[in-house]
Amino acid sequence: MEIRVTVPTNIALLKYWGKEDAERQWPANDSLSMTMNGWSSVTLVKEYVGTDRFIFRGEKLGQDDPKFLKLKKHLDFLRTKLGFTQFLAINSHNTFPTACGLASSASGMAALTLGALCVWLEAADFATLAAKGYTRERIAHLSRLGSGSAGRSLWGGFVRWQKGADAESQVLEQVFDDKHWPLCNTVVMIDSEEKKTPSTDGHKLAWSSPLFLPRLAGMENKMNKILAALQQKSLPLLGPMIEQECLEMHAVMMSSQPPLFYFGEKTTRFLAWFRSMRERNHLQLYFTIDAGANVHIIGEKEDQIKFHEFLRNDYPSVEFIIDHVGSGPQIEELV
Ligand code: PMV
Repeated sequence: MEIRVTVPTNIALLKYWGKEDAERQWPANDSLSMTMNGWSSVTLVKEYVGTDRFIFRGEKLGQDDPKFLKLKKHLDFLRTKLGFTQFLAINSHNTFPTACGLASSASGMAALTLGALCVWLEAADFATLAAKGYTRERIAHLSRLGSGSAGRSLWGGFVRWQKGADAESQVLEQVFDDKHWPLCNTVVMIDSEEKKTPSTDGHKLAWSSPLFLPRLAGMENKMNKILAALQQKSLPLLGPMIEQECLEMHAVMMSSQPPLFYFGEKTTRFLAWFRSMRERNHLQLYFTIDAGANVHIIGEKEDQIKFHEFLRNDYPSVEFIIDHVGSGPQIEELV
């Protein structure tokens, strides 16, 4: 059986940064993201004899390639934990540019996990997977063990990851579906350099920041406010909170020992331009930034279109891409 899974990436509005327990992928705080529509990892999976084989963007990965090792490690882990034996051929690409500030590890790891389970279980839809004991939530937990944020890509709409009282009581669930509020996201590619510190290493440093414990103390309150803003579909409520949240996470990063700077002068200059352009034109658009230098602009379609005009004028050479909230992963059986 050959399966094609298309798994969208997600952008966190309330960020996951820092882990209680790296081994069991237990986050230090709850997080909440929106799943995108078109920005996806498209992964073909079929059985293969003798070994696992990985093709990424048309090129076979060598056995010492760090990507190969990360993917192989996750497949070996799944096989051992779940008792499957077949090796797999994986052929994957992303529909969005790499290093554009989108979490390809989230969509990529979720696609690998979902595709592998479909082939091992001979299941080509979520109902059959669930009937065989693999609910969406179980698949989400298996995905987050490959990359934390991957667990949130198993649903469309808005998804919450709760840390729970211990590592085994974590909860991943959809809080609003994609029909609730079709928010858009424009990613402005300020700096396409590969990030220097992978998030796995970054998470470890969080505890060394004097700002980290105060951040954790405020997370529950922030989650409740973000949920209420989403419920009311209110950008004036949601927007300032997501900006403050992302800057708080970056303040933790910058005050870690050693400090981590995921963005620099180009991004800060862009943010200054963006804020004054927004004020002058009365736009309800708000920024967020993950562990990278590129900026995500969140808001409704009408204001996004106006924003693109100003962007083209003032930053004629900058690249940007736009997408909206989507309905989550798709599975197809190839004949
Ligand atoms: O899933 P990871 O280990 O790549 O960490 C993701 C961290 C952020 O993207 C910065 C925030 C988040 O919640 O997605």
